[in-house]
Amino acid sequence: MKVDVLLGLQWGDEGKGKVVDVLTPNYDVVARFQGGPNAGHTLEFEGQKYVLRSIPSGIFQGDKVNIIGNGVVLDPALFKAEAESLEASGHNLKERLHISKKAHLILPTHRLLDAAYEAAKGDAKVGTTGKGIGPTYTDKISRNGVRVGDILHNFDAIYSQAKARHEAILKNLNFEYDLTQLEKEWFEGIEYLKQFHFVDSEHEINNLLRDGKSVLCEGAQGTMLDIDFGSYPFVTSSNTVCAGACTGLGVAPNRIGEVFGIFKAYCTRVGSGPFPTELFDETGETICQIGHEYGAVTGRKRRCGWIDLVALRYSVMINGVTKLIMMKSDVLDTFETIKACVAYKVNGEEIDYFPYDINENVEPVYVELPAWQVDMTKMQSEDEFPEEFNAYVSFLEEQLETPIKIVSVGPDRDQTIIRYTED
Ligand code: GDP
Ligand code: IMO
Ligand code: MG
Repeated sequence: MKVDVLLGLQWGDEGKGKVVDVLTPNYDVVARFQGGPNAGHTLEFEGQKYVLRSIPSGIFQGDKVNIIGNGVVLDPALFKAEAESLEASGHNLKERLHISKKAHLILPTHRLLDAAYEAAKGDAKVGTTGKGIGPTYTDKISRNGVRVGDILHNFDAIYSQAKARHEAILKNLNFEYDLTQLEKEWFEGIEYLKQFHFVDSEHEINNLLRDGKSVLCEGAQGTMLDIDFGSYPFVTSSNTVCAGACTGLGVAPNRIGEVFGIFKAYCTRVGSGPFPTELFDETGETICQIGHEYGAVTGRKRRCGWIDLVALRYSVMINGVTKLIMMKSDVLDTFETIKACVAYKVNGEEIDYFPYDINENVEPVYVELPAWQVDMTKMQSEDEFPEEFNAYVSFLEEQLETPIKIVSVGPDRDQTIIRYTED
Protein backbone atom coordinates (compact mmCIF):
# COMPACT_ATOMS: atom_id res chain seq x y z
CA MET A 1 0.00 0.00 0.00
CA LYS A 2 1.00 3.59 -0.49
CA VAL A 3 1.52 6.30 2.06
CA ASP A 4 -0.44 9.50 1.45
CA VAL A 5 0.78 12.84 2.76
CA LEU A 6 -1.25 15.90 3.71
CA LEU A 7 0.70 19.11 4.16
CA GLY A 8 0.38 22.88 4.23
CA LEU A 9 1.28 24.89 1.13
CA GLN A 10 1.38 28.34 2.73
CA TRP A 11 2.76 29.65 6.05
CA GLY A 12 0.88 27.17 8.26
CA ASP A 13 -2.61 27.16 9.81
CA GLU A 14 -4.22 26.16 6.52
CA GLY A 15 -6.64 23.80 8.29
CA LYS A 16 -4.58 20.59 8.26
CA GLY A 17 -6.06 19.25 11.51
CA LYS A 18 -9.62 19.54 10.26
CA VAL A 19 -8.98 17.71 7.01
CA VAL A 20 -6.81 14.97 8.52
CA ASP A 21 -9.73 14.22 10.84
CA VAL A 22 -12.12 14.12 7.87
CA LEU A 23 -9.85 11.80 5.84
CA THR A 24 -8.87 9.45 8.70
CA PRO A 25 -11.73 6.95 8.12
CA ASN A 26 -10.04 6.12 4.76
CA TYR A 27 -6.79 5.06 6.49
CA ASP A 28 -5.56 2.57 9.08
CA VAL A 29 -2.94 4.80 10.63
CA VAL A 30 -2.23 8.53 10.95
CA ALA A 31 1.31 9.74 11.62
CA ARG A 32 2.99 13.06 12.37
CA PHE A 33 6.44 13.34 10.78
CA GLN A 34 7.95 16.68 11.86
CA GLY A 35 7.49 19.73 14.00
CA GLY A 36 6.32 19.69 17.56
CA PRO A 37 4.12 21.77 19.87
CA ASN A 38 4.73 24.81 17.68
CA ALA A 39 1.78 23.35 15.76
CA GLY A 40 -1.83 24.05 16.69
CA HIS A 41 -4.26 21.92 14.71
CA THR A 42 -7.93 22.70 15.29
CA LEU A 43 -10.78 20.23 14.89
CA GLU A 44 -14.46 20.84 15.40
CA PHE A 45 -17.23 18.27 15.52
CA GLU A 46 -20.41 17.62 17.52
CA GLY A 47 -20.22 21.11 19.00
CA GLN A 48 -16.76 20.48 20.48
CA LYS A 49 -13.50 22.17 19.55
CA TYR A 50 -10.08 20.61 20.10
CA VAL A 51 -6.60 22.01 19.47
CA LEU A 52 -3.87 19.42 18.97
CA ARG A 53 -0.18 20.23 19.18
CA SER A 54 1.81 16.99 19.22
CA ILE A 55 -0.91 14.37 18.94
CA PRO A 56 -1.93 13.47 15.36
CA SER A 57 -5.37 14.61 14.22
CA GLY A 58 -6.51 11.05 13.51
CA ILE A 59 -7.00 10.45 17.22
CA PHE A 60 -10.75 11.13 17.26
CA GLN A 61 -11.80 8.62 14.64
CA GLY A 62 -12.61 5.22 16.13
CA ASP A 63 -9.71 3.10 17.22
CA LYS A 64 -7.17 4.18 14.60
CA VAL A 65 -3.51 3.94 15.57
CA ASN A 66 -1.74 7.29 15.62
CA ILE A 67 2.04 7.58 15.48
CA ILE A 68 4.40 10.34 16.55
CA GLY A 69 7.33 9.75 14.21
CA ASN A 70 11.09 10.11 14.60
CA GLY A 71 11.07 13.50 12.84
CA VAL A 72 8.93 15.07 15.56
CA VAL A 73 10.28 16.95 18.59
CA LEU A 74 8.32 16.26 21.76
CA ASP A 75 7.94 18.29 24.95
CA PRO A 76 6.87 15.83 27.69
CA ALA A 77 5.28 18.55 29.84
CA LEU A 78 3.14 19.93 27.00
CA PHE A 79 2.39 16.44 25.79
CA LYS A 80 1.10 15.44 29.23
CA ALA A 81 -1.18 18.48 29.39
CA GLU A 82 -2.52 17.81 25.88
CA ALA A 83 -3.03 14.07 26.37
CA GLU A 84 -4.60 14.42 29.81
CA SER A 85 -7.14 16.91 28.55
CA LEU A 86 -8.13 14.47 25.79
CA GLU A 87 -8.35 11.62 28.28
CA ALA A 88 -10.52 13.79 30.54
CA SER A 89 -12.96 14.21 27.65
CA GLY A 90 -13.21 10.44 27.28
CA HIS A 91 -10.63 9.64 24.61
CA ASN A 92 -8.45 6.67 25.39
CA LEU A 93 -4.96 7.25 24.04
CA LYS A 94 -2.55 4.91 25.75
CA GLU A 95 -3.11 1.91 23.48
CA ARG A 96 -3.53 3.85 20.24
CA LEU A 97 -0.84 6.47 20.38
CA HIS A 98 2.63 5.17 19.57
CA ILE A 99 5.75 7.29 19.99
CA SER A 100 9.01 6.78 18.11
CA LYS A 101 12.03 6.10 20.29
CA LYS A 102 13.98 8.21 17.83
CA ALA A 103 11.87 11.36 18.33
CA HIS A 104 13.90 14.07 20.06
CA LEU A 105 12.91 15.55 23.41
CA ILE A 106 12.49 19.28 23.91
CA LEU A 107 14.25 20.04 27.20
CA PRO A 108 13.24 22.92 29.49
CA THR A 109 16.55 24.56 28.63
CA HIS A 110 15.69 24.34 24.90
CA ARG A 111 12.74 26.61 25.60
CA LEU A 112 14.99 29.03 27.46
CA LEU A 113 17.49 28.99 24.60
CA ASP A 114 14.69 29.74 22.13
CA ALA A 115 13.78 32.82 24.19
CA ALA A 116 17.43 33.84 24.63
CA TYR A 117 18.23 33.59 20.90
CA GLU A 118 15.12 35.55 19.99
CA ALA A 119 15.98 38.27 22.52
CA ALA A 120 19.52 38.44 21.14
CA LYS A 121 18.19 38.97 17.60
CA GLY A 122 16.21 42.06 18.63
CA ASP A 123 14.23 43.48 15.69
CA ALA A 124 15.45 40.65 13.46
CA LYS A 125 13.71 38.04 15.61
CA VAL A 126 11.96 35.17 13.87
CA GLY A 127 8.85 35.46 16.03
CA THR A 128 9.02 31.81 17.05
CA THR A 129 6.36 30.10 19.08
CA GLY A 130 8.84 29.96 21.97
CA LYS A 131 8.52 26.21 22.31
CA GLY A 132 12.22 25.38 21.93
CA ILE A 133 11.84 23.99 18.41
CA GLY A 134 14.97 25.54 16.86
CA PRO A 135 17.37 24.65 19.71
CA THR A 136 16.05 21.06 19.85
CA TYR A 137 16.57 20.48 16.12
CA THR A 138 19.96 22.21 16.42
CA ASP A 139 21.00 19.64 19.03
CA LYS A 140 19.66 16.83 16.86
CA ILE A 141 21.70 17.90 13.86
CA SER A 142 24.82 18.61 15.93
CA ARG A 143 24.48 15.14 17.46
CA ASN A 144 23.83 16.37 20.96
CA GLY A 145 20.13 15.59 21.21
CA VAL A 146 18.20 13.60 23.80
CA ARG A 147 15.77 11.06 22.38
CA VAL A 148 12.61 9.39 23.69
CA GLY A 149 14.52 6.09 23.69
CA ASP A 150 17.05 7.59 26.11
CA ILE A 151 14.34 7.69 28.79
CA LEU A 152 14.83 3.95 29.13
CA HIS A 153 18.64 4.00 29.53
CA ASN A 154 20.98 6.11 31.64
CA PHE A 155 18.60 9.04 31.31
CA ASP A 156 19.74 11.17 34.25
CA ALA A 157 23.32 11.38 32.98
CA ILE A 158 22.24 12.18 29.41
CA TYR A 159 19.83 14.85 30.64
CA SER A 160 22.35 16.46 33.00
CA GLN A 161 24.99 16.65 30.32
CA ALA A 162 22.66 18.40 27.88
CA LYS A 163 21.39 20.74 30.60
CA ALA A 164 24.93 21.73 31.61
CA ARG A 165 25.80 22.51 28.01
CA HIS A 166 22.69 24.66 27.62
CA GLU A 167 23.26 26.49 30.89
CA ALA A 168 26.76 27.46 29.78
CA ILE A 169 25.29 29.04 26.63
CA LEU A 170 22.56 30.82 28.60
CA LYS A 171 25.19 32.22 30.96
CA ASN A 172 27.19 33.44 28.01
CA LEU A 173 24.11 35.24 26.68
CA ASN A 174 23.50 36.78 30.12
CA PHE A 175 20.03 35.30 30.06
CA GLU A 176 18.31 35.19 33.41
CA TYR A 177 16.01 32.31 34.21
CA ASP A 178 14.50 30.07 36.82
CA LEU A 179 14.29 26.43 35.85
CA THR A 180 12.57 25.04 38.95
CA GLN A 181 8.95 24.96 37.81
CA LEU A 182 9.76 24.14 34.19
CA GLU A 183 11.91 21.20 35.24
CA LYS A 184 9.34 19.91 37.73
CA GLU A 185 6.61 19.82 35.05
CA TRP A 186 9.03 18.32 32.56
CA PHE A 187 9.97 15.37 34.78
CA GLU A 188 6.29 14.79 35.58
CA GLY A 189 5.83 14.68 31.82
CA ILE A 190 8.59 12.10 31.49
CA GLU A 191 6.89 9.84 34.05
CA TYR A 192 3.59 10.24 32.23
CA LEU A 193 5.20 9.52 28.87
CA LYS A 194 6.48 6.17 30.13
CA GLN A 195 2.92 4.83 30.07
CA PHE A 196 2.85 5.01 26.26
CA HIS A 197 4.20 2.56 23.69
CA PHE A 198 7.68 3.60 22.59
CA VAL A 199 8.15 2.08 19.15
CA ASP A 200 10.56 1.79 16.26
CA SER A 201 8.12 3.65 14.07
CA GLU A 202 10.04 2.97 10.85
CA HIS A 203 9.59 -0.78 11.41
CA GLU A 204 6.01 -0.38 12.55
CA ILE A 205 4.99 1.64 9.50
CA ASN A 206 6.78 -0.56 6.98
CA ASN A 207 5.29 -3.70 8.55
CA LEU A 208 1.85 -2.15 8.32
CA LEU A 209 2.43 -1.31 4.66
CA ARG A 210 3.62 -4.86 3.97
CA ASP A 211 0.35 -6.09 5.53
CA GLY A 212 -1.68 -3.96 3.15
CA LYS A 213 -2.53 -1.20 5.61
CA SER A 214 -2.71 2.45 4.62
CA VAL A 215 -1.07 5.44 6.27
CA LEU A 216 -1.87 9.14 6.19
CA CYS A 217 1.02 11.43 7.14
CA GLU A 218 0.06 14.74 8.73
CA GLY A 219 2.33 17.68 8.11
CA ALA A 220 2.78 20.56 10.51
CA GLN A 221 3.53 24.20 9.64
CA GLY A 222 3.63 24.82 5.88
CA THR A 223 5.92 24.74 2.86
CA MET A 224 6.79 28.43 3.13
CA LEU A 225 8.11 27.71 6.64
CA ASP A 226 10.31 24.81 5.46
CA ILE A 227 13.93 25.07 6.63
CA ASP A 228 15.26 24.64 3.07
CA PHE A 229 12.58 26.08 0.81
CA GLY A 230 10.71 28.54 3.02
CA SER A 231 11.37 32.24 3.48
CA TYR A 232 14.67 31.66 5.30
CA PRO A 233 15.62 32.65 8.00
CA PHE A 234 11.98 33.30 8.91
CA VAL A 235 11.11 29.62 8.93
CA THR A 236 10.79 26.73 11.34
CA SER A 237 13.63 24.25 11.86
CA SER A 238 12.30 21.15 10.10
CA ASN A 239 11.49 19.95 6.60
CA THR A 240 7.79 20.58 6.36
CA VAL A 241 7.70 19.42 2.73
CA CYS A 242 6.74 15.99 1.42
CA ALA A 243 10.31 14.70 1.63
CA GLY A 244 10.07 15.28 5.39
CA ALA A 245 7.55 12.45 5.58
CA CYS A 246 10.23 10.06 4.26
CA THR A 247 12.91 11.15 6.72
CA GLY A 248 10.48 11.77 9.57
CA LEU A 249 8.91 8.33 9.47
CA GLY A 250 11.31 6.05 7.62
CA VAL A 251 9.14 5.75 4.53
CA ALA A 252 10.89 5.25 1.17
CA PRO A 253 10.11 7.87 -1.51
CA ASN A 254 8.59 5.27 -3.85
CA ARG A 255 6.03 4.48 -1.14
CA ILE A 256 4.46 7.93 -1.37
CA GLY A 257 1.06 7.95 -3.09
CA GLU A 258 -1.21 10.98 -3.01
CA VAL A 259 0.19 14.28 -1.85
CA PHE A 260 -2.65 16.47 -0.57
CA GLY A 261 -1.66 20.13 -0.62
CA ILE A 262 -3.84 22.31 1.54
CA PHE A 263 -4.28 26.08 1.27
CA LYS A 264 -6.61 28.85 2.35
CA ALA A 265 -8.65 30.72 -0.27
CA TYR A 266 -6.55 33.69 0.86
CA CYS A 267 -3.30 33.71 2.84
CA THR A 268 -2.06 34.26 6.39
CA ARG A 269 1.22 34.31 8.24
CA VAL A 270 2.10 34.56 11.93
CA GLY A 271 5.49 35.73 13.15
CA SER A 272 8.07 37.80 11.27
CA GLY A 273 9.22 37.52 7.67
CA PRO A 274 8.26 38.42 4.13
CA PHE A 275 4.66 38.12 2.95
CA PRO A 276 4.30 39.75 -0.49
CA THR A 277 0.48 39.81 -0.60
CA GLU A 278 -0.02 41.04 2.97
CA LEU A 279 -2.81 43.60 3.32
CA PHE A 280 -2.40 46.48 5.75
CA ASP A 281 -5.81 47.98 4.98
CA GLU A 282 -9.43 47.41 5.94
CA THR A 283 -9.69 44.39 3.64
CA GLY A 284 -6.91 42.64 5.57
CA GLU A 285 -8.66 43.45 8.83
CA THR A 286 -11.99 42.14 7.46
CA ILE A 287 -10.38 38.83 6.46
CA CYS A 288 -8.80 38.59 9.92
CA GLN A 289 -12.09 39.19 11.72
CA ILE A 290 -14.31 36.97 9.55
CA GLY A 291 -11.67 34.23 9.47
CA HIS A 292 -10.92 34.51 13.22
CA GLU A 293 -7.27 34.67 12.29
CA TYR A 294 -5.70 34.36 15.70
CA GLY A 295 -3.16 31.65 16.58
CA ALA A 296 -4.72 28.39 17.78
CA VAL A 297 -2.14 28.10 20.58
CA THR A 298 -0.46 31.46 21.08
CA GLY A 299 -3.50 33.65 20.31
CA ARG A 300 -1.22 35.86 18.20
CA LYS A 301 -2.99 37.85 15.50
CA ARG A 302 -2.24 36.40 12.08
CA ARG A 303 -1.20 38.69 9.26
CA CYS A 304 -3.70 38.42 6.37
CA GLY A 305 -3.53 38.93 2.62
CA TRP A 306 -4.69 37.73 -0.78
CA ILE A 307 -3.85 34.32 -2.16
CA ASP A 308 -0.33 34.14 -3.60
CA LEU A 309 -0.24 31.84 -6.62
CA VAL A 310 3.47 32.39 -7.24
CA ALA A 311 4.25 30.94 -3.81
CA LEU A 312 1.58 28.24 -4.23
CA ARG A 313 2.96 27.12 -7.61
CA TYR A 314 6.35 26.78 -5.92
CA SER A 315 4.84 24.71 -3.09
CA VAL A 316 2.99 22.45 -5.53
CA MET A 317 6.25 21.87 -7.38
CA ILE A 318 8.42 21.14 -4.32
CA ASN A 319 5.90 18.70 -2.87
CA GLY A 320 4.67 17.01 -6.02
CA VAL A 321 1.10 17.80 -4.98
CA THR A 322 -1.42 15.51 -6.65
CA LYS A 323 -4.62 16.93 -5.11
CA LEU A 324 -5.41 20.33 -3.73
CA ILE A 325 -7.65 21.15 -0.79
CA MET A 326 -9.05 24.67 -0.47
CA MET A 327 -10.02 25.88 3.00
CA LYS A 328 -11.97 28.80 4.43
CA SER A 329 -13.55 29.89 1.16
CA ASP A 330 -16.60 30.88 3.27
CA VAL A 331 -14.50 33.73 4.72
CA LEU A 332 -14.74 35.43 1.30
CA ASP A 333 -18.53 34.91 1.01
CA THR A 334 -19.37 38.58 1.56
CA PHE A 335 -16.74 40.07 -0.73
CA GLU A 336 -17.76 41.75 -4.01
CA THR A 337 -14.49 40.95 -5.70
CA ILE A 338 -11.36 39.05 -4.69
CA LYS A 339 -7.79 39.30 -5.82
CA ALA A 340 -5.20 36.67 -6.65
CA CYS A 341 -1.49 37.33 -7.09
CA VAL A 342 -0.37 35.68 -10.35
CA ALA A 343 3.15 37.13 -10.69
CA TYR A 344 5.68 39.33 -8.90
CA LYS A 345 7.20 42.53 -10.15
CA VAL A 346 10.83 42.76 -9.04
CA ASN A 347 12.63 46.02 -9.84
CA GLY A 348 10.15 46.64 -12.64
CA GLU A 349 10.49 43.19 -14.19
CA GLU A 350 7.61 40.71 -14.02
CA ILE A 351 8.45 37.15 -12.91
CA ASP A 352 6.18 34.15 -12.41
CA TYR A 353 8.50 32.04 -10.23
CA PHE A 354 9.33 32.25 -6.52
CA PRO A 355 12.70 34.03 -6.34
CA TYR A 356 15.64 33.53 -3.95
CA ASP A 357 15.13 36.88 -2.33
CA ILE A 358 11.70 37.92 -1.11
CA ASN A 359 12.21 41.49 0.01
CA GLU A 360 10.47 44.87 -0.10
CA ASN A 361 11.22 45.12 -3.86
CA VAL A 362 8.84 42.26 -4.57
CA GLU A 363 5.49 43.67 -5.63
CA PRO A 364 2.49 41.41 -6.26
CA VAL A 365 0.74 41.53 -9.64
CA TYR A 366 -2.96 40.86 -9.13
CA VAL A 367 -5.92 39.78 -11.17
CA GLU A 368 -9.31 40.73 -9.77
CA LEU A 369 -12.16 38.26 -9.94
CA PRO A 370 -15.87 38.61 -9.20
CA ALA A 371 -16.81 36.94 -5.89
CA TRP A 372 -19.97 34.94 -5.21
CA GLN A 373 -21.68 36.90 -2.38
CA VAL A 374 -23.59 33.82 -1.23
CA ASP A 375 -23.45 32.13 2.17
CA MET A 376 -21.73 28.82 1.41
CA THR A 377 -21.44 27.53 4.98
CA LYS A 378 -24.43 25.19 4.80
CA MET A 379 -23.74 23.76 1.39
CA GLN A 380 -23.40 19.99 1.20
CA SER A 381 -22.42 19.33 -2.38
CA GLU A 382 -20.65 21.04 -5.25
CA ASP A 383 -23.96 21.09 -7.13
CA GLU A 384 -24.89 24.03 -4.91
CA PHE A 385 -21.77 26.07 -5.69
CA PRO A 386 -22.46 29.50 -7.19
CA GLU A 387 -21.16 30.17 -10.68
CA GLU A 388 -18.56 32.73 -9.55
CA PHE A 389 -17.18 30.26 -7.01
CA ASN A 390 -16.83 27.57 -9.67
CA ALA A 391 -15.02 30.11 -11.82
CA TYR A 392 -12.61 30.86 -8.94
CA VAL A 393 -11.96 27.12 -8.45
CA SER A 394 -11.32 26.60 -12.17
CA PHE A 395 -9.03 29.62 -12.27
CA LEU A 396 -6.96 28.24 -9.38
CA GLU A 397 -6.83 24.76 -10.90
CA GLU A 398 -5.55 26.23 -14.14
CA GLN A 399 -2.96 28.39 -12.42
CA LEU A 400 -1.73 25.54 -10.23
CA GLU A 401 -2.16 22.78 -12.83
CA THR A 402 -3.63 20.52 -10.14
CA PRO A 403 -7.22 19.53 -9.32
CA ILE A 404 -8.98 20.84 -6.22
CA LYS A 405 -10.46 17.74 -4.61
CA ILE A 406 -11.90 19.15 -1.39
CA VAL A 407 -13.46 22.50 -0.52
CA SER A 408 -14.02 23.49 3.10
CA VAL A 409 -16.83 25.95 3.88
CA GLY A 410 -16.61 26.16 7.67
CA PRO A 411 -14.64 24.85 10.66
CA ASP A 412 -16.86 21.86 11.41
CA ARG A 413 -16.07 18.34 10.21
CA ASP A 414 -19.40 18.38 8.34
CA GLN A 415 -18.63 21.57 6.44
CA THR A 416 -16.44 19.73 3.97
CA ILE A 417 -17.29 19.09 0.33
CA ILE A 418 -15.56 16.41 -1.72
CA ARG A 419 -15.63 17.32 -5.41
CA TYR A 420 -16.37 14.91 -8.23
CA THR A 421 -12.91 15.10 -9.77
CA GLU A 422 -11.76 11.80 -11.20
CA ASP A 423 -9.23 9.87 -9.02
P1 GDP B 1 -3.81 23.91 11.04
O1 GDP B 1 -2.70 24.34 11.92
O2 GDP B 1 -3.41 23.82 9.61
O3 GDP B 1 -4.49 22.65 11.51
O4 GDP B 1 -4.90 25.08 11.12
P2 GDP B 1 -5.37 25.88 12.46
O5 GDP B 1 -6.21 25.01 13.28
O6 GDP B 1 -4.20 26.52 13.12
O7 GDP B 1 -6.17 27.08 11.81
C1 GDP B 1 -7.29 26.86 11.02
C2 GDP B 1 -8.47 27.62 11.66
O8 GDP B 1 -9.50 27.74 10.72
C3 GDP B 1 -9.08 26.86 12.82
O9 GDP B 1 -9.60 27.78 13.74
C4 GDP B 1 -10.20 26.05 12.16
O10 GDP B 1 -11.24 25.73 13.07
C5 GDP B 1 -10.66 27.02 11.11
N1 GDP B 1 -11.20 26.43 9.88
C6 GDP B 1 -10.80 25.30 9.23
N2 GDP B 1 -11.45 25.18 8.06
C7 GDP B 1 -12.27 26.23 7.97
C8 GDP B 1 -13.19 26.68 6.97
O11 GDP B 1 -13.36 26.09 5.91
N3 GDP B 1 -13.86 27.84 7.23
C9 GDP B 1 -13.69 28.55 8.38
N4 GDP B 1 -14.38 29.68 8.53
N5 GDP B 1 -12.83 28.16 9.34
C10 GDP B 1 -12.13 27.03 9.13
P1 IMO C 1 0.68 24.70 12.27
O1 IMO C 1 1.11 23.26 12.24
C1 IMO C 1 1.84 28.87 11.67
C2 IMO C 1 5.99 29.91 12.68
C3 IMO C 1 6.22 30.83 13.87
C4 IMO C 1 7.50 31.51 13.42
C5 IMO C 1 8.26 30.40 12.71
C6 IMO C 1 9.30 29.69 13.57
O2 IMO C 1 -0.36 25.00 13.29
O3 IMO C 1 0.35 25.20 10.91
P2 IMO C 1 9.16 27.95 15.57
O4 IMO C 1 8.50 28.04 16.90
O5 IMO C 1 8.69 26.81 14.73
O6 IMO C 1 10.66 27.99 15.66
O7 IMO C 1 8.74 29.31 14.82
O8 IMO C 1 7.28 29.46 12.29
N1 IMO C 1 5.18 28.71 12.99
C7 IMO C 1 3.91 28.54 12.60
N2 IMO C 1 3.06 29.37 11.95
N3 IMO C 1 1.45 27.61 11.98
C8 IMO C 1 2.29 26.77 12.61
O9 IMO C 1 1.99 25.47 12.82
C9 IMO C 1 3.57 27.22 12.98
N4 IMO C 1 4.62 26.66 13.61
C10 IMO C 1 5.61 27.57 13.60
O10 IMO C 1 5.16 31.73 14.04
O11 IMO C 1 7.20 32.50 12.46
MG1 MG D 1 -2.21 25.85 13.32
